[in-house]
Amino acid sequence: MLTSIKTNNFAGDKSKELAMMYFRVAIILFGAQLLFGLVAAFQFIVPGFLFEILDFSVARMVHINALVVWMLFAMIGSVYFMLPDETGIETVGIGIGKLAFWVFTAAVTVVVLVYILVQVGPGTESTIWLINEGREYLEAPRWADIGIVVVVLTFYANVFFTYMKGEKTGIMTVMVANLLAVSGLYLAGMFFTDNISMDQYWWWWVIHLWVEATWEVFVGALAAYALIRLIGAKREVVEMWLWIEVLMLFGSGVLGLGHHYFWIGTPEYWWEIGALFSALEPVPLVAMFVHVLYDWGKEQGIAKGQGKTGSILTNGPAMAWIVMNAFGNFLGAGIWGFFHTLPQVNIYTHGTQFTAAHGHLAFFGAYATILVGMMYIGLQSAYGIKVLKANFKSKMGIILISFGVMGMTIALTVAGYEQVLIERAELGGGWEAFFTAQNLPWYVQAQLWRMIMGVVTFVGFIYLIWDLLTIGKTQKALQAQA
Ligand code: HEM
Ligand code: HEM
Ligand SMILES: [Fe+2]
Repeated sequence: MLTSIKTNNFAGDKSKELAMMYFRVAIILFGAQLLFGLVAAFQFIVPGFLFEILDFSVARMVHINALVVWMLFAMIGSVYFMLPDETGIETVGIGIGKLAFWVFTAAVTVVVLVYILVQVGPGTESTIWLINEGREYLEAPRWADIGIVVVVLTFYANVFFTYMKGEKTGIMTVMVANLLAVSGLYLAGMFFTDNISMDQYWWWWVIHLWVEATWEVFVGALAAYALIRLIGAKREVVEMWLWIEVLMLFGSGVLGLGHHYFWIGTPEYWWEIGALFSALEPVPLVAMFVHVLYDWGKEQGIAKGQGKTGSILTNGPAMAWIVMNAFGNFLGAGIWGFFHTLPQVNIYTHGTQFTAAHGHLAFFGAYATILVGMMYIGLQSAYGIKVLKANFKSKMGIILISFGVMGMTIALTVAGYEQVLIERAELGGGWEAFFTAQNLPWYVQAQLWRMIMGVVTFVGFIYLIWDLLTIGKTQKALQAQA
């Protein structure tokens, strides 16, 4: 993307320019994520597909690593975007920020190429350093890990010093404190131990404490910023909600970690702790959901009360994605997460396609949606458009992607249900049971539907890209005519 996703129209606002650079890489990686997902999904139906060329293990690895990395890119981009607005000053170290961007992008490219070029090999010390660390979602080899730490430190320094120098809003205070936690937690997934229980124990500190605590706070802060921008929500109101959510998210999310400690060799007291705290996790998600819709309804009401006919919404596509975020977070993380979070249930569902169903809807609903929304806000700003309206392509993008992901989630839930009944309950788990369950029609058909819905998602993605590439130019021209 792509020159139409402009970086040079910000009248000297270098931080927003840098944000757009991050957004461009993010959307390309999102596309790559989907393509590798389609390959992996097809391999469920035709297991020999691309065997020894692009094995399932590799396609899956690239799929989920690209997911994490594009989200990190889009998150960094979002922060660079909001920083000058919230602090009221220019970001302090743009030069070094740009350098870090190029280093990060180059490193990600090399890591992905190595994943694809070196698919099998011995599990030695040099593999960990140069090829692959073997920790799901965070497979980057150690050299890249260290690079990521340096890049993130540069980013954090930029945010921190700009914050210290400029105005200190509530949103930015939460952001700065939370980013420290996000970055710090990454370190827990970096050292090596050959005890698999210990390894998993620490690995969850990154995965769970990212997606169920710190990233959630991150999107809370982002949603607060976006709502002020999009519908003129009152800062005091959104900031009040934000503080409440932060408190609740940390309250439930941190000990909710216990829902991953049921069966990995950790002490049994985690059953109670995990059950209680993780069951509380949906509460802040409901609060967030209510918060977005409440604010939205209130602002609409005020506008109507003032006799305004037109909508006061300044960016249609961004708002649609952010409302989708409120629904998606609640459904994917809150509902689908709650389904399998009690140990009495999880003993049957653990590691089935049910987990994959939840993983898809939660990552999409809680994170992909709002980050795409931020990209639209970026575009609007890059083109200097006062009111960005959704058009056919924007609508097809959001509808097909959301419908596709929901469809995949339902298909995987059916597959998971079948696994629970046949593989776990009836056949008692184990190797034979696993394969028997996978060959029965419910499972096979569910995988077929997931593939179909994956294609729908991908078609939606093409509309999204097409829209991002064209909406700025066309709406700017329209605005000039008006
Ligand atoms: C946006 C927030 C969330 C995201 C992105 C997310 C994502 C994921 C992913 C990707 C996994 C699979 C990890 C693996 O590969 O092993 C997972 C597992 C799990 N999640 Fe979430 N999750 C979120 C929130 C929640 C919430 C709020 C709950 C509970 C209320 C929850 C409950 C669980 C449980 C119990 C597992 C373990 C499944 C198993 O035993 O196989 N998640 N989550
Ligand atoms: C074209 C659409 C997509 C297809 C065909 C697809 C396919 C797949 C496949 C085949 C797997 C491996 C599942 C397994 O090991 O059993 C997977 C895993 C995963 N995908 Fe996707 N995917 C797609 C889109 C997405 C999107 C949009 C997201 C989130 C934003 C996502 C997040 C994940 C996650 C978190 C996992 C790991 C789940 C787990 O292990 O529990 N995928 N996907
Ligand atoms: Fe978790």
